[in-house]
Amino acid sequence: MAAWIWIAALLYSSHAAVLPPPWADVRRNPCASRPRGWLMLYWPSDGKCYTIYKKGHPCSETQELSPGRLGGRTVAECKCPPGTAQLPHTKTCHKLFERGPCRSGEYFAPVEESFNMRGERQGMCVRPQQCADETLLYWPPDGRCYYRLTQGPCYTGSILDLGDDGLANCTCTSASPHYWELDGGCYAHYSRGPCERGQLFLPGARCGCDPQLPHYHNATAGCYELDSLGPCAKGHVFAITEVSENGSRAECRCKNFHARADDGACYRLYTRGPCAEDEMISRGGRCVRVPCGRGRLYVPERRRCYRPGAAEPCRAGEHLAFDFDARPALDGISHNGVCVCGNQPCVQKEMSACSLRKGTAAFNGACHILNAQGPCSAGSWLTRDSTGRTHCQCRPGGICTKKMENS
Ligand SMILES: *[C@@H]1O[C@H](CO)[C@@H](O)[C@H](O)[C@H]1NC(C)=O
Ligand SMILES: *[C@@H]1O[C@H](CO)[C@@H](O)[C@H](O)[C@H]1NC(C)=O
Ligand SMILES: *[C@@H]1O[C@H](CO)[C@@H](O)[C@H](O)[C@H]1NC(C)=O
Repeated sequence: MAAWIWIAALLYSSHAAVLPPPWADVRRNPCASRPRGWLMLYWPSDGKCYTIYKKGHPCSETQELSPGRLGGRTVAECKCPPGTAQLPHTKTCHKLFERGPCRSGEYFAPVEESFNMRGERQGMCVRPQQCADETLLYWPPDGRCYYRLTQGPCYTGSILDLGDDGLANCTCTSASPHYWELDGGCYAHYSRGPCERGQLFLPGARCGCDPQLPHYHNATAGCYELDSLGPCAKGHVFAITEVSENGSRAECRCKNFHARADDGACYRLYTRGPCAEDEMISRGGRCVRVPCGRGRLYVPERRRCYRPGAAEPCRAGEHLAFDFDARPALDGISHNGVCVCGNQPCVQKEMSACSLRKGTAAFNGACHILNAQGPCSAGSWLTRDSTGRTHCQCRPGGICTKKMENS
């Protein structure tokens, strides 16, 4: 890609002083003396010049001619184009993160060292990682698990499903129960999909809103996706807060570590929110004076302020740091100080304490209460199986939808 920028720069800025790429140097590339020679590379086996980044001859069908180095000279090499790779000792390039040359159920993964060191682009066949349970599918390009039949990592209009090759596939066919005829796209059930605000895409491929759904919001008489902002004011999440025998109901609640202020919106604790300049939002949503001097951080447990880096308010081996989870552009400056180990949150310690406590378990790097919805999607709960692994499991009769976004 960088090479194309070089070429574009040479083509379009003829009078600007542009540093030519190495292969435009006649001493290094014998082809550079020819007309348009800087677009040509020398191929040592037949002594001819070929156009750079061309696929096929003298390379194989799927490889492209790329600049490489031999001694001090720039010579042509056949390499796989970006996004593809080849098996060692072969000349065919296959798309990465798909089955390619692999057995059913495996995918073609980049061998990272070959990409970094020599730009050779080698691949190998690997098995997808196991996700917590069968409602989740592994997506090789980002190494994450997504709920089956949700949009997940797919483009709008397609949904993630298990393909014929045993790998996750973004797909949409007219036979799918998720198919919406009007625009030819597929959408997750209980997501807004192609529907108007206040309606959801429901089984039966229709837009609607049923007051019986947990997604129903009484005040606006509409239905909204769970774990989204939904009909709520800023800083809220529309989520199921309790599961009762009469069915569950979503409601607007403040996001974690947020409090509702007088204006009805929720703000991250210990940020300014709607308060006066020298104030911050406290637990309970009141505006209180920032108790700290310049450059100091507030430690809620101690109700005092400390310098970043201070060891005192923290446990042994830890020190005080800025709150990593606050996003200044969205939340404003946070006065909250957190104890960290090295440069990271002290996850390890917290997690082992969490697993030892009765009724709690570590999941995705956080501590949660077992047998509750916790971090799981609506209709599922967090359970521990006989091997001690924690995972989200669909409740009987539950509607399993998209996993809650990290808020
Ligand atoms: C993946 O989905 C696309 C689009 O629906 C489909 O054409 C293709 O056959 C699927 N691939 C596999 C391996 O199932
Ligand atoms: C639902 O909304 C209606 C009309 O706004 C209202 O009369 C009713 O009391 C509400 N019910 C609940 C449970 O909030
Ligand atoms: C469930 O519904 C019944 C009958 O309508 C009612 O008596 C009971 O209080 C409800 N339970 C809860 C937890 O809302």
